[in-house]
Amino acid sequence: MTRIVVLISGRGSNMQAIVKACQSGDINATVVSVISNRPDAAGLTFAKENHIHTAVCDHTEFANRDDFDGELAKLIKQAEPDWIVLAGFIRILGAELVQQFVGRMINIHPSLLPKYPGLNTHERALAAHDDEHGASVHFVTAELDAGPVIEQVSVPILEGDTPDSLAARVLAKEHGLLVKAVKRCVTGDVQFTPSTAV
Ligand code: GRF
Repeated sequence: MTRIVVLISGRGSNMQAIVKACQSGDINATVVSVISNRPDAAGLTFAKENHIHTAVCDHTEFANRDDFDGELAKLIKQAEPDWIVLAGFIRILGAELVQQFVGRMINIHPSLLPKYPGLNTHERALAAHDDEHGASVHFVTAELDAGPVIEQVSVPILEGDTPDSLAARVLAKEHGLLVKAVKRCVTGDVQFTPSTAV
């Protein structure tokens, strides 16, 4: 059975969508561990209730990024994953860590990449008066939010939208998008080609 590790930082609704799709057989895989960089991440409760192994790698307890990345890499490897899914994981990973998992680590990002890598994507799409916004699932490479895109979904930006209303509209589409992308990865329908890495 294909083994998936999910990295989260908070609510974990995208992680829940993956777990449920695995439980229902929609994705032919098992979530073997949920790792959070925040001990208070709400998603950890859902994982525990679903008898999934959890681990915390609290970034505030490390003197520097390399030490944090080293511990995180150790926790990921212990779970022996085929795929690593960053689902609302709000930490930048160093090149050395990324290199160890390149080609089998994916991330969901709330924008139509290559637009708006980084934070505050909803605010930035509104400030730019864009007509549409959305989310992308992409392979993780050393450059932030710049790896090859696997799947995207767009939503309209409506008159009177606020960052919160827009975020909610995007999130409602993220779950299906992520399940679709993970499914493609697990079935081998999509593969990372180094030459396509940005
Ligand atoms: C999602 O919008 C994700 O794209 C972004 O952070 C949010 C996390 O939501 N990176 P959740 O924790 O999956 O509910």
